[in-house]
Amino acid sequence: MPIRDARYDILFEPIKIGPVEAKNRFYQVPHCTGMGWSRPRMVAGLRGMKAEGGWGVICTEYCSIHPSTDDIPFNSHSIWDKGDIRAHRLMTDKCHEHGALAGVELWVSGAESVNYLTREVPMDVVSMPNGNGEPYQARAMNKSDIRELRRWHRNAALRAKEAGFDIVYVYATHHYLLDNFLNPSINTRTDEYGGSQVNRMRIVREIIEETREAVGDSCAVAVRFSVDDGGGPDGTPVHADRLEIFEALSELPDLWDINISDYSWEMGSSRFTQQGALESYLAEVKSKTTKPVVSVGRFTSPDAMASQISRGVLDFIGAARPSIADPFLPNKIKEGRIEDIRECIGCNICYTGDSKHYPLRCTQNPTMGEEWRRGWHPEQIAVKGSDANVLVVGAGPAGLEASLALGQRGYSVTLAEATRELGGRVTLESQLPGLAEWARVRDYRLGQLAKLPEVEIFRESRLTLADILAVEADHVAIATGATWRRDGYGIYSTCPMDPMPPAEQTFTPDDIMAGKIPDGPTIVYDDERFYLAGLIAEKLRMTGMAVTYITPAPRVSNWSINTTEQFRIHQRLAELGVDIILNHGLEGFDGSQATISCAYTEKEQAIVADNLVLVTCRQPEDNLFNEVQSAIEQKLKGAPLTVKRIGDADAPAIIAAAVFSGHKYARELDVEVDGDNPIKYDRVFFDDE
Ligand SMILES: Cc1cc2nc3c(=O)[nH]c(=O)nc-3n(C[C@H](O)[C@H](O)[C@H](O)COP(=O)(O)O)c2cc1C
Ligand code: SF4
Repeated sequence: MPIRDARYDILFEPIKIGPVEAKNRFYQVPHCTGMGWSRPRMVAGLRGMKAEGGWGVICTEYCSIHPSTDDIPFNSHSIWDKGDIRAHRLMTDKCHEHGALAGVELWVSGAESVNYLTREVPMDVVSMPNGNGEPYQARAMNKSDIRELRRWHRNAALRAKEAGFDIVYVYATHHYLLDNFLNPSINTRTDEYGGSQVNRMRIVREIIEETREAVGDSCAVAVRFSVDDGGGPDGTPVHADRLEIFEALSELPDLWDINISDYSWEMGSSRFTQQGALESYLAEVKSKTTKPVVSVGRFTSPDAMASQISRGVLDFIGAARPSIADPFLPNKIKEGRIEDIRECIGCNICYTGDSKHYPLRCTQNPTMGEEWRRGWHPEQIAVKGSDANVLVVGAGPAGLEASLALGQRGYSVTLAEATRELGGRVTLESQLPGLAEWARVRDYRLGQLAKLPEVEIFRESRLTLADILAVEADHVAIATGATWRRDGYGIYSTCPMDPMPPAEQTFTPDDIMAGKIPDGPTIVYDDERFYLAGLIAEKLRMTGMAVTYITPAPRVSNWSINTTEQFRIHQRLAELGVDIILNHGLEGFDGSQATISCAYTEKEQAIVADNLVLVTCRQPEDNLFNEVQSAIEQKLKGAPLTVKRIGDADAPAIIAAAVFSGHKYARELDVEVDGDNPIKYDRVFFDDE
C-alpha cells in the first residue's frame, strides 16, 4: 500500500469557511457541464463522482437567479423555483454523502445574455450591446430595477440554502452584470451606483451583505472576483483599481475565489498557458484579507499545489479541468498514488461543450459525463464477462484506452502496434509546437498498462489478415487510425482535385509529422479548420521558410474558437510573419502557384509557392477491418467471434472521441447493450408543487 508523502499533508488540512468547514484544500471551482438545468441527474452523477474522489468543495456552474437572466442555448443552471431546488438537491445530497461541501454560483448575466428562453429584457449597468454580438441591447437599470435585482438575489440565496448548498456565491467577474458595475469604463452612471469607486462597488457590497444576512447563519458567502483589469503585453497584470476595491470589500464575504479578467488566459490551453500561470496576479491578494482565498491554474502536480499553500499564495487549490480529467485526484494524492493521476492535458475540449451547448466531455477521462446515464465510474469497471482473449490492433489513443480498460476488466489482451512508437497520433501531434502535454494521453495509459500483466504489447508488429487469424483471438478491435488525404477532398471541395497537384511538392500532416519538411515557400491549406493546420504553419514558419496559410473559413483555425484559443493562434501566426488568407478555397496547384477563389465572389487569384500542405480530411485505415469481417463471414480458420473498428479507423474525429471509442468498446464487450436505447435519457419533469 503506497504511503502519502508528508509534503502533501498540508493539502489535507481542514479549513473553516465562515460557518462551514472544508475537509481539505481541494476546491472544484464553478465549471459548466453543458447539462445545467436540463439534465440534473447527469449533473448530480458527475459532481457526486468528484465528491467520492475526495474534493473538499464542489461547486455548480453559473446558476441563474431569475428569469431575467437566461443563457439559452447554453445549458446553464437556474434556481428559480421549487423544481430547481429539487434538481439541485440531487447534487448537494451526493456531495454531502461523501463529506464534501456544495457551492452554488449565483449568476446575473447583464448584457451577455439575450434571454432567448424567457424573452425578458436583459438589464445592465448602462444601455449596452449584447456582449456576444447578438442584435439585442440591455436596458440601463434604474433604481427600482436595482432594488428588484437585490431582492431576486436574496431569494435565490434562500432557495440555494433550501437546496442544501453550503456555499453561496456572489459572482462579480467575467464581464457579467456585477463586474460591469465595478468597471469605470463601462459604468458611466451618474447616480449613487456609478462614478466614484465607492459608488461602483455599492451594488456588490449590498448583495454580499444581503446574502450574508439571508443565509449566512449556515452558508458561507463566496465572491468570485478578478483583481485585474487585463494584462500588459508582457503578461504583467494591470490591476487598475481592482486591488483597492478588493481591499475595501475584503472582510465582507467568507471566501474569495479569485480569477482574472481574461477568460482565455484564466482557462488557457497548454499550448499557450502553463500550470500556475495566475500567480503574478495573486501576489497581493492574501495580504489584503484574512478570509480564505481560492484560485486556479490547471494544477495537476501535488508539488505545485503544496507549494501554493505553504508559500501562502492560496488557501485552497481551485480546479476545474484537473477535476474533470481526474475526479479522484485528491484521493490519489491522499493515498500516495501520484503516478495514477490522470493529468489534464490542457486541450480545452471540455470547454467546447460549453461553446457548442453539449454535455461535457474530456480527452483524458472518457467517463466524464457518463456517470449517471451509462453508469461509468472513472476508477471502477466491471470484471470480464467471459474468458475470451482480445487482440487490439493499433496503439494510438483508441487502442491504448481499449487495451487498458479491457485489461482492467481482466481480459487477456494482445496489443499489436505497427511502429516502434506507441501512442499513434498523440505521439506525433505532441511533438508540434506547444503540444508537449498532450503526450500525457499516451503516458498515463502506458503507466497503467505496465501494471497489468494481462496486457502484452508488441511493437513493430504490422499485422496482416494471416497474422490475425494465426493469433486466434476471440475478439479483434481494429484501431489502425486514419491517414490525411492528399487529394484536396474536404469540406470546401467534395471531390478530389483535378488535375492532382505534383506529388513531390504536395504534403500532408502525416508527412510533416514524420519529419518530411518541404523546401521553399509553402502554402498550408486548412480545410479541416481546427488546430492542426495552424500548428503546421507555425512549425514550418519557425524553420524560416515563407508560409502562406489559406482557409475557406472566416478565421484562422476556425473551430478553435470553441477551445478559447482562436485569437491566440491567429496572433501567433501573424507575429511569426505567416501570410494569412481567409475565406478562400483551393482550386488547384501546379507546382509553382496555387489558384484560390473567394468564398463569396468566386474571384480567383494566384499565390506563388513551391509546395502545398493539404490539411483537409482523413481516410479511415479500415482495410484490415474489412478483411477480418469477411474472414468471419467466410468462417475462415482462426477468425474471431467479433471484429470492431474503433477510434479514427471507425470515424476520424478529435482525440477525445478516439479515447471514448476505445473505452466504450472495452466496457461493452460481453455486455448486453440495448441498441434501441443505449443510454439513459435525463429527461425530467419536476413539478412546482
Ligand atoms: C468546461 C468549463 C466550464 C466553465 N464554466 C464556468 C462557469 O460556469 N463559471 C465560472 O465562473 N467559471 C467557469 N469556468 C472557469 C473555471 O472556473 C476556471 O476558472 C478555469 O477553468 C481555470 O481553472 P483550471 O485551470 O483549474 O481549469 C469554466 C471552465 C471550464 C473548463
Ligand atoms: S478536455 Fe482536455 S483540458 Fe479539459 S479536462 Fe480534459 S484533458 Fe483537461
